[in-house]
Amino acid sequence: MVIRTRKTLLMFFIALIVVFTLTSLCFIKILNRAESVTTTPKIKVHDNILNELPFIQNKFKRRHYLNDTTWDNFLKNTKSLTPNVKAELLWNEVRSWVSKTQFYDATSPHLGTVLNLLKSAKIIKADVDTRGTQLKLLLTLEGHQQVVFKPKWYPIDKVIDGPVYAGKDRYGSEILAFYLSAILQKPLTPLTTERNISLSKDIVPVATKRLLSTIFNHKSVLCVYGKCFYCKRNDPVCEDDNNMLSGAVSLNINATFIYHRSPWQRTYKKGKLALWETLDNYCQFIKPKLSTRNLLDLVDAAIFDFLIQNGDRHHYETFDGNIILLDNGKGLGNPYTHHLDILAPLYQCCMLRNTTWTRLQQLSSGLLRSHLESIPNIWNFVTKPHINAIEHRLNIIYAAVKFCRNRSKGMP
Ligand SMILES: *[C@@H]1O[C@H](CO)[C@@H](O)[C@H](O)[C@H]1NC(C)=O
Ligand SMILES: *[C@@H]1O[C@H](CO)[C@@H](O)[C@H](O)[C@H]1NC(C)=O
Ligand SMILES: *[C@@H]1O[C@H](CO)[C@@H](O)[C@H](O)[C@H]1NC(C)=O
Ligand SMILES: *[C@@H]1O[C@H](CO)[C@@H](O)[C@H](O)[C@H]1NC(C)=O
Ligand SMILES: *[C@@H]1O[C@H](CO)[C@@H](O)[C@H](O)[C@H]1NC(C)=O
Repeated sequence: MVIRTRKTLLMFFIALIVVFTLTSLCFIKILNRAESVTTTPKIKVHDNILNELPFIQNKFKRRHYLNDTTWDNFLKNTKSLTPNVKAELLWNEVRSWVSKTQFYDATSPHLGTVLNLLKSAKIIKADVDTRGTQLKLLLTLEGHQQVVFKPKWYPIDKVIDGPVYAGKDRYGSEILAFYLSAILQKPLTPLTTERNISLSKDIVPVATKRLLSTIFNHKSVLCVYGKCFYCKRNDPVCEDDNNMLSGAVSLNINATFIYHRSPWQRTYKKGKLALWETLDNYCQFIKPKLSTRNLLDLVDAAIFDFLIQNGDRHHYETFDGNIILLDNGKGLGNPYTHHLDILAPLYQCCMLRNTTWTRLQQLSSGLLRSHLESIPNIWNFVTKPHINAIEHRLNIIYAAVKFCRNRSKGMP
């Protein structure tokens, strides 16, 4: 009798546990669903834009292939090497290129020599770079030119899931951005190239005290964590099997930039939407606050960012009033998603520069892809799926333009 009661009791408890688990699972499911609805809003215009895609792809497939001498010459310049040029003189020339409309001279035959110098000139001083939120080094190269080094954190085929701003900087995105700026004929990114450095040989002997204090030995390789918002000792970047750190070096532009909050800033809070994510007519509120030139610059930047999915431009910088394209490390995160909301400045304001539109059209019918694939050593830092994705996103941009033509007269 006692045994029987015990057995019933046991059965009762097991039943209770099963019921409890099932209801909890159910709740978690419902809560998750509610959350995914609020964090990734279904923006109606995105469907309208994507509905245009089949027509766009047919229209642009038939376009004729275009000779692009500007790009061909740029590419030739990036590969030409002038022997025995003094570093100091070359850096002076590079600094003279910088203006509010360009950070480099795409027509200069010295471009290749400069990129080579970025890649190989002796490092004479190494410091932390505290600007921004992620690990960067501020290096001074022979000939007294400052450059910024961003390390490689991931293998290039790593797919970053989550929100568009997830993960750490992708060094390949910085390099690709430089070439993309040349393709789009908006040379407002700093000269950038791949570089491998040895912490022990290239950095430690010339490091400042504050940088040195963030370099340490871990299982017989050197690691560094630097000084920045997210920099911490338990999250360093370490040398690879060849005792090297791979990464991207960019020219440090010595000029005064003005820092602005982007009207299309994200909230960076799960489940909380910004005003621009909830209002289709958001641009009406922005237009009175910004100049037309500024807005057109923001649209150009949005197109640039959308192609590589650099969805983290919460602030932007201007140089003499022109918006420049600094900090492009959040691109190349996931080649299998296309976050359309990066294009919000375009499809909400429905404004576009004639020159930008002309250039975008020229890049149709595979020209964008063939340009990207002709970038020197491209497969070192970008994978094929990313190139496919960029090609596809160009069609999405055409579709957004078509969508805008339907609703605004301000379109080319
Ligand atoms: C493109 O350039 C090549 C070589 O310069 C030339 O032979 C060809 O005719 C050009 N094509 C067009 C469409 O201009
Ligand atoms: C850097 O190192 C990687 C492998 O460690 C190599 O594939 C790449 O070509 C190197 N890049 C440069 C610019 O030397
Ligand atoms: C930046 O430019 C200013 C004046 O144009 C100059 O005094 C300064 O030395 C430069 N800094 C670097 C790091 O080149
Ligand atoms: C825009 O560009 C096209 C093609 O280059 C040209 O025909 C047209 O006149 C331009 N429109 C304006 C308003 O500049
Ligand atoms: C363009 O406007 C027409 C008529 O108002 C509408 O049927 C069509 O869906 C619109 N297309 C887009 C892409 O918004």
